[in-house]
Amino acid sequence: MTGTITFTMIKPSAFSAGYTGNILAKIEAAGYKIKAMKKISLSKEQAGHFYEMHKERPFYEELTNFMSSGPIVAAILEKENAVESFRKFIGATDPAKADEGTIRKLYGKNLSENAVHGSDSDESAQREAGFFFSFLEMV
Ligand code: CMP
Repeated sequence: MTGTITFTMIKPSAFSAGYTGNILAKIEAAGYKIKAMKKISLSKEQAGHFYEMHKERPFYEELTNFMSSGPIVAAILEKENAVESFRKFIGATDPAKADEGTIRKLYGKNLSENAVHGSDSDESAQREAGFFFSFLEMV
């Protein structure tokens, strides 16, 4: 399975703005299969656990406040070379630097409110998928 899945979240700002349907339509049109998906609200503690690798970074507080500010949609996506291709597809972390036509360019506002998350490695994809979904929800 390694190499064929990535994990994504539609972040609170994009969800509350009503972009979920458009973002999912673009993801599917780009050839990603939705292997698992759920709408969920994270507590600040849960958001902190998900982003624990950024604990020492100056933006950790802002990021975990934001990610626990409203519902998100979490999903596991399947495609060949999923992690790398999805990162290109969503664009640079900062929407202002993202290429035209990418999800973050279209629907992101700033570094925190950048519309979607995408795993940065196969190891992260496995960890993040397991954070949100049980074995039975992934098959
Ligand atoms: P994401 O792909 O979810 O992974 C970590 C997140 O941290 C990233 O998207 C951004 O939303 C956020 N992030 C990264 N750098 C900064 C920054 N300098 N200021 C605020 N948020 C940041």
